[in-house]
Amino acid sequence: MKQALEQIKTAAVEALEKCDNLKALEELKVKYLGKKGELTAILKQMGKLSAEERPVIGQLANEVRSTIEEEVKTRTAALKEKELEEQLAAEKIDVTMPGKKFQVGKKHPLTLVMDEIKEIFLGMGFDVVDGPEVELDYYNFEALNIPKNHPARDTQDTFYINDNVVMRTQTSPVQVRTMEKRKPPIRIISPGRVYRSDALDATHSPVFHQIEGLVVDKGITMSDLKGTLEMFVKSLYGEDSVVRFRPHHFPFTEPSAEMDVMCFNCHGEGCRICKGEGWIEILGAGMVHPKVLQNCGIDPEEYSGFAFGMGLERVVMRRFAIDDIRMFFENDQRFLDQF
Ligand code: PHE
Repeated sequence: MKQALEQIKTAAVEALEKCDNLKALEELKVKYLGKKGELTAILKQMGKLSAEERPVIGQLANEVRSTIEEEVKTRTAALKEKELEEQLAAEKIDVTMPGKKFQVGKKHPLTLVMDEIKEIFLGMGFDVVDGPEVELDYYNFEALNIPKNHPARDTQDTFYINDNVVMRTQTSPVQVRTMEKRKPPIRIISPGRVYRSDALDATHSPVFHQIEGLVVDKGITMSDLKGTLEMFVKSLYGEDSVVRFRPHHFPFTEPSAEMDVMCFNCHGEGCRICKGEGWIEILGAGMVHPKVLQNCGIDPEEYSGFAFGMGLERVVMRRFAIDDIRMFFENDQRFLDQF
């Protein structure tokens, strides 16, 4: 029995020394010191011993137990320390390492200027409203005084979904939709995409953007139109901008005009940018035709209004000296990064 105890002690100490993790250590503890462990098994046989042998073996057994317990304690402390160190090493953060580069997106130049224009009109008390790009022929043409076979349809040839549905050629149908829904006073702008079946070149695109404007109230006159648009141009291009109005024709305004801005490059002298004109056309406008008001259930005897429509691409090209409209739609990163 003495030998058995010595063997347990040697085996236990050896196993504990080799043990390299806390889980295995726990298992060894159970194996040697547990209720069903090896040491207990020996102690259960103590009854068989003689009266002289019992205290000797008892003392030896106690020694073996405390040696093993001591060893378990030391190993536990050592292993806990080791595991903590490993965890700390694994979780170490090198704060001097370079960070991951974050790609920040930017606004497209069209959006950039569109936002600026919206801001200017919001400041003058206008609402921004939306309209459909796939539009009824009625709203795009008929209600705007452009019946089928009207020559004005020639300049706005578009893509037909069917006889009554077209891709809108202008944002002007939003005038009609707004007047049908709202009662005066009305003060809105409506930016959005429009479509024409034009071939793509440096100054034409089958898809482009317009910003429509509409004001209807009692006593609105041509001077309100001129004042509002002049103020807008000065906010967008600077206080020293000069505008001029030329008579023009649109079926849905009467009288009608086109507004030019004096060329920022040559100040009216004529240069390459304004194609020798000295002026650059930026929008069409006029007093809302009485028939259009009537089409929308607004009494032209009581109310009057003005409307305008400008091409966004032109305004942006002028603003950033971009000489080809195709740049806007090609998504070339080298172009877009410049704004
Ligand atoms: N819709 C016209 C165009 O596309 C512009 C316009 C709008 C003219 C409003 C007058 C009033 O050419």
